[in-house]
Amino acid sequence: MHNSFKLNLVQRPRRLRRTAELRALVEDTVLRPSNLIAPLFVIDGKGRPEPIASMPGVFRLNIADLAKECRSLRKLGVLAVALFPKLDSRLKDEDGTAALSEDALILRAVRAVKDAVPGLVVMTDIALDPYTTHGHDGVLTPDGRDVDNDRTVAILARMAVLHASAGVDLVAPSDMMDGRVGAIRKALDAADHEGTAIMAYTAKYASAYYGPFRDAVGSAKASGTRSLDKRGYQLNPANRREALIELKLDEAEGADIVMVKPAGLYLDIIRDLRLSTRKPVAAYQVSGEYSQIHAAARLGWLDLPQCRRESLLAIKRAGADMILTYFAKEMAAELGGRQPL
Ligand code: PBG
Repeated sequence: MHNSFKLNLVQRPRRLRRTAELRALVEDTVLRPSNLIAPLFVIDGKGRPEPIASMPGVFRLNIADLAKECRSLRKLGVLAVALFPKLDSRLKDEDGTAALSEDALILRAVRAVKDAVPGLVVMTDIALDPYTTHGHDGVLTPDGRDVDNDRTVAILARMAVLHASAGVDLVAPSDMMDGRVGAIRKALDAADHEGTAIMAYTAKYASAYYGPFRDAVGSAKASGTRSLDKRGYQLNPANRREALIELKLDEAEGADIVMVKPAGLYLDIIRDLRLSTRKPVAAYQVSGEYSQIHAAARLGWLDLPQCRRESLLAIKRAGADMILTYFAKEMAAELGGRQPL
């Protein structure tokens, strides 16, 4: 019987969406636990894990608990962690001098993690914001109105050498000062750390989505305001070409991996970098991206596991080889435990 509603179609893309097996067969973006990097917050002392109100499920851990957490991440197939220290505010000063302390919390944390899980890739942030009373990523000019680029770079280069000596695999300058990648590379090489790689925060935007992170490391409170203004050094969210200028500089200065941050709102930038470099591209799904999914899920408005997966898939699909995400552990557990279908 002739059905008058029947379309005469040669192409019916839905044929390949018909069953779960067919859909899996033609899936082109694949998330793997080894693509994920877990950012972790560390505190001094022996206290219990400290919850971070604006980041449900994320805790500041003492060094022993941090090492344990790294072990369980490794078991789930997460091969890399990014460590962030939260300092006692009494250790902070205008110039962030605690960043160069030989006994710095971050250095002790790195050594403990390397001892506990030797193969784990450990990276650390190179920036002064956890150490300064004002919460900026560098030292200020005498009038206090700007971050002093060159003086900051000199400090960051020394900081990177300290971190390398403690055993980090990757240093990650997150400060956006001009010339820092080159200065860090030079300082590392001069100190016989040719093997320490640089993951440059190449396109780090002046984003409002860092708010919960600043709660976590206490850099917002230090400045007395939540909207710490970093527009004098971080990229303008309106700008696309500028990311490629930064990419060119970071590559020339010796970056091994280039990063875009935030991730989900900057998929176009991830794609731009992917198409413009042969280096690995990383993306940082930042605290605010994590928190907004949690907030909506709490209200019952979004499904957490589905949004988690979709947000990470999108970042990977845009061209990121690896993703820093606070969802790393849960996502890896899901990927490992889940039968593909
Ligand atoms: C600081 C730094 C920030 C983040 C990583 N390193 C915050 C900032 O620039 O103020 C943000 C990470 C996140 O929001 O998850 N150099």
